[in-house]
Amino acid sequence: MNIQFILNGEDIQIVAEAGDRLSDILAGRHYSDSVHQHCGYGVCGRCMVLMDGLPVNSCLVPAYEVRNSEVISWEGLIQTPEYQLIEIAWQTHKLELCSFCRPAVSLLMASLMDSSSRPSDAAIEETLSALNCRCTAPERLFAAGRTVVNLKEGRNKPDVR
Ligand code: FES
Ligand code: FES
Repeated sequence: MNIQFILNGEDIQIVAEAGDRLSDILAGRHYSDSVHQHCGYGVCGRCMVLMDGLPVNSCLVPAYEVRNSEVISWEGLIQTPEYQLIEIAWQTHKLELCSFCRPAVSLLMASLMDSSSRPSDAAIEETLSALNCRCTAPERLFAAGRTVVNLKEGRNKPDVR
């Protein structure tokens, strides 16, 4: 089947097989180095992207659902002004995330900033709970997430805890 979608601002046209998932397209056809096919069933988050602004595990998205959508991977996110705020927050809190978690948590925060101008603490916690990191305390992730939101709201003093 013919699939057309936008990836990081670029028009992509491919022919997909019936059982293909978005991760097969992005990782399998080398459109993105940040998308990894690891667990393959929506648990690890290593295949996360934004699809029409929402974070999705691309291994769970059938290719036909990608049609006419806008997909942003880590490679696209790091070109945006939002990402600069996210990066400042990670540095402020000295978060040393691995190469799987950093893209995923950044995409999660970017989607939260897009969806709500003033996300509550509960919304930040819920958003970050989608991250499957086994080595960073949730409190540290939350504090960094709160700082991202504060920076976005123009409160330039990072909220360090
Ligand atoms: S590969 Fe693990 S969630 Fe997609
Ligand atoms: S930073 Fe990746 S598993 Fe914790």
